[in-house]
Amino acid sequence: MALAILCSGGDAPGMNPAIKRFVDYVYEKGETPYFIYNGLEGLIDGEIKQATHKDVAGILHHGGTIIRSSRSKRFYDYTYRKQAYENLLKYQINGLVVLGGDGSFRAMEQMSREFDLNFVGIPTTIDNDIYGTDTCLGVDTALNVIRDALDKIRDTASSFSRAFVVEVMGRDCGYLAVVSAISSGAEICIIPEVDFNKKVAEIHLKRELAEGRSYILAIVSEGTKRTQEIAHWLEHDLGMETRITVLGHIQRGGSPTVYDRLLAFEFTIRAVDHLLLSKGANKVVVIEAGRYGMRDIGDVVQNRYQIDPALLSSLNRLD
Ligand code: F6P
Repeated sequence: MALAILCSGGDAPGMNPAIKRFVDYVYEKGETPYFIYNGLEGLIDGEIKQATHKDVAGILHHGGTIIRSSRSKRFYDYTYRKQAYENLLKYQINGLVVLGGDGSFRAMEQMSREFDLNFVGIPTTIDNDIYGTDTCLGVDTALNVIRDALDKIRDTASSFSRAFVVEVMGRDCGYLAVVSAISSGAEICIIPEVDFNKKVAEIHLKRELAEGRSYILAIVSEGTKRTQEIAHWLEHDLGMETRITVLGHIQRGGSPTVYDRLLAFEFTIRAVDHLLLSKGANKVVVIEAGRYGMRDIGDVVQNRYQIDPALLSSLNRLD
């Protein structure tokens, strides 16, 4: 069999270990691995080549993806999806592994309804917003990058009497913000999923400031679009000198953590085994309560990920 791998959407740490495992494992199984460069754009343009062990030597500890990624607008158009399918036929690729997030899986789901596809998706996004899996490749590394940044910001915040508003990624999902706020001891956490009551927080924080609190750390999820508003509130209503830090794309980089490397290996082995055994096409490999499994692509894209309520309830106990 010829199996191919591509990365789609936002890159995430863990893609390279997955790519390495894919190539090594497919050869181990006596089959032929292919790279599709540049994500769905490359699939449309036929940027496909047989992968070698040499291609993947020394990549495991690097963030990003050696085969690159893209967000493809052309893929919304049927003509280009057909062209992409014809490229798979041209290289006689009969199994495809897609490392990507929600948007990429939607694109694959659409394509699977139109053509005779055989793919397995590996949930790969720092946002942790994919239904049916507790975590995604890249999340653990991103959380550690944020933790490192917050520890440093706390050093400077505590040396002055200042408030810091730190904006974290996650698109419309507050998972990164919630876990970061809890693990870094932030006083405030604002996410799209939960209403934030400024009045209640203000009473609480004013009392603490009167009792001697000297600094405040607020984590704001980018999806709320409230970074400026919260900074203004801290400065004007709470009287704290305030600084804003937008962590931005550093959250997508860095050497994958041990957890993300292991997850990459386990997800990839399961994806390849599934394709080789032809157990029914078009699935997403997931991990739930510590157990690996497969979900139908339709199930994954039709449902919405929700943050564990137990985690959300910890927000009430932040300060
Ligand atoms: O989906 C991953 C992500 O990093 C989001 O957290 C963020 O909103 C978005 O991608 C940024 O996209 P881009 O790299 O295209 O600016």
